[in-house]
Amino acid sequence: VLIVKKVAVLGAGLMGRGIAQLYAQAGYPTHLYDINDKFLESAKQIIDENLTLMVDKSLITQGDKQAALARMTFTTDLKQAVQEVEFITEAVPEILELKLELFKKVEQLTNPGTIIASNTSTIPLSQMVKGITQPNRFIITHFFNPAHLVPLVEIVKTEQTSDHVIETIMNLMKRIGKKPVLLKKEVPGFIANRLQAAMVREAFYLLNEGVAEAEDIDTAITSGPGFRWAFIGPIETVDYGGLDTWKRVIENLAPELDKTEAAPQVIADLVEKGHLGTKTGQGIYSYIDTSVSEKVKERDMNFIELLKIKK
Ligand SMILES: NC(=O)c1ccc[n+]([C@@H]2O[C@H](COP(=O)([O-])OP(=O)(O)OC[C@H]3O[C@@H](n4cnc5c(N)ncnc54)[C@H](O)[C@@H]3O)[C@@H](O)[C@H]2O)c1
Repeated sequence: VLIVKKVAVLGAGLMGRGIAQLYAQAGYPTHLYDINDKFLESAKQIIDENLTLMVDKSLITQGDKQAALARMTFTTDLKQAVQEVEFITEAVPEILELKLELFKKVEQLTNPGTIIASNTSTIPLSQMVKGITQPNRFIITHFFNPAHLVPLVEIVKTEQTSDHVIETIMNLMKRIGKKPVLLKKEVPGFIANRLQAAMVREAFYLLNEGVAEAEDIDTAITSGPGFRWAFIGPIETVDYGGLDTWKRVIENLAPELDKTEAAPQVIADLVEKGHLGTKTGQGIYSYIDTSVSEKVKERDMNFIELLKIKK
């Protein structure tokens, strides 16, 4: 099994900066690459703030923070980022052509032993390795936002991904403190986003039908099933509830559940008006009078407490 000593992350946006932070915290010299210095500057500042919050909440020490930052280099030079590393993760926008082009360049700039991962949520790996000469060294490591706090990483391979690549990456994920889950085969949306999308569709159906206010629908999850989900998954839940009970639940409810394939109308209408949620100040809820960065900080503080319990 290949020993990973240095890593590179390509794309310093929402996901890339959190992923780079993880490797740096775990002791790996980490290059973070983007196409423009201003994205790197912004990433550097946010990583600093993320680490500061972790220090404030006693998850790590001030020394840990400084050591992690000292292991990071920020560059707009792709060659410098990818040469002399054993593992590369791309987290550039979800556009197939962009990823294809980047993968081809990276394949040429690296030696055949270097493992290359994508953080894609929706593009099948088998499509991304089209035109690649060594698809055996490509894999998906799918992190969840905020990547530096949410433990799950879904690992997706193709038929061609070599066993030693899978083993190396599974071990690496554990080394950086994550919970890797390996899919036995490729499916769109992998595991977690399929489950989440099924529930989100039903939540908007209930909203549209006027069954409850948005806040109450959200509370029904955060104080109900969601309260349990950090420790008990949907399959184990069936065991606790009783298989006979759940047999009837599914038989009675499945015909009632929403099966629409289009995006919920309320989402489509808001997108049309340019209301995209926290990033524009207006979504289903309004964020005009609240500081979004304060809300994100509060969310992250809660996640840090949960992380402490789960550890
Ligand atoms: N946002 C999420 O919650 C989430 C969760 C899991 C996976 N993902 C996946 O992660 C990937 C990145 O998503 P994001 O939300 O971080 O996007 P983002 O837009 O926040 O960040 C993308 C970054 O890539 C940079 N970039 C653009 N072209 C580039 C290139 N050619 N080379 C290097 N960098 C380039 C951009 O400047 C930007 O900084 C996508 O594949 C997305 O589907 C996103």
